[in-house]
Amino acid sequence: MNLILGIETSCDECSAAVVTYEPGQLRVQGLATFSQVRLHQPFGGVVPEVASRNHLETVNPMIDQALKQAGVQTRDLDAIAVTNRPGLVGALLVGVSAGKAMAYALQKPLVPVHHLEGHAASLFLDTDAASRLELPLLLAVVSGGHTNLYVVRQAPELWPPDFLKRSLVGRSRDDAAGEAFDKTAKLLGFPYPGGVWIDRTAQGGNPRAFEFPRALPQKATLDFSFSGLKTAVALQTEALKRAGTLDERLPDLCASIQEAIVDALLTKMWLAVREHGCRSLAIVGGVAANSRLRGRLDAEWKKRGLETEPFFPKMDYCTDNAAMIAAAGAFRFRQGHHLRGAELLGLNALPNPEI
Ligand code: KG4
Ligand code: ZN
Repeated sequence: MNLILGIETSCDECSAAVVTYEPGQLRVQGLATFSQVRLHQPFGGVVPEVASRNHLETVNPMIDQALKQAGVQTRDLDAIAVTNRPGLVGALLVGVSAGKAMAYALQKPLVPVHHLEGHAASLFLDTDAASRLELPLLLAVVSGGHTNLYVVRQAPELWPPDFLKRSLVGRSRDDAAGEAFDKTAKLLGFPYPGGVWIDRTAQGGNPRAFEFPRALPQKATLDFSFSGLKTAVALQTEALKRAGTLDERLPDLCASIQEAIVDALLTKMWLAVREHGCRSLAIVGGVAANSRLRGRLDAEWKKRGLETEPFFPKMDYCTDNAAMIAAAGAFRFRQGHHLRGAELLGLNALPNPEI
């Protein structure tokens, strides 16, 4: 069994976790996350400088808390995994520096982790998904920063270092789905991040009340585009404000926005399943928490020819957290992809998603 410490500081969550790993079984032993949402709320979005300064103050307490929760000492660790790409470079640097300092001082291996690979690995935390899913798997990473479709052909223990790059079949050409939720929510006056507010307010609303665009409907592409939705929602919101009916129509408006995003996601996902012969489907990332997306997938997966029910991470592991980084780090560590001694000091933070 391996004991892995994970560190995540790529955006506005400062998180540390201790995870145990043996093939087929990933268990979270300790997880401490400080969400900076309240700090960024007055600005309506994440302010990079505010994020990195806060990570600096918070990263060590999070590490201490995760180790304490797990009841382990630093000397018990087999490896330290840290997100080093992609993300806000100043924010990433804080976690990378903390990971490097710890690994060097304790003479432990350091495992650099791609943030999206962390989201992918979140599927296997505290679940038996690894033994139930069928390959090829259509994996959708749907977060505030990304809307990517991957066709995954290997079990997680065998994921090669560049598997994300090689298995990408579709992506958003502009805004990510989470960004579409957040930007339209902002137009309606909801606080950042707005996805969860749209989800909540949409309960009881009519998803067919307003007709919003579903971009790139042509069959040939697995790419997404969400920027047109924002403009359509802005116009509709203005019209309702002028009529003085915005408040009473809010549930209908939210349900219709949500339906447009969920429809666009599902259309391309089903197309990808068919084109690539996928037998299972999984959604990870913050938007995987959306109740309408989950509900529609549950209702539709059988008639779309999937062999298993759709897989989602546990709710706590959908949004950014260090347990998923430790999980991806565990797979990498087992494959021997880690840095030691002086070579780990050369690890850098990379803002771009290229592997
Ligand atoms: O994965 P994540 O924590 O951060 C990134 O890596 O970007 O995802 C955050 C995103 C935000 O855009 C947030 O609005 C969205 O996930 N989100 C939701 C819900 N919960 C979080 N979107 C729709 N419905 C939800 N229930
Ligand atoms: Zn994320």
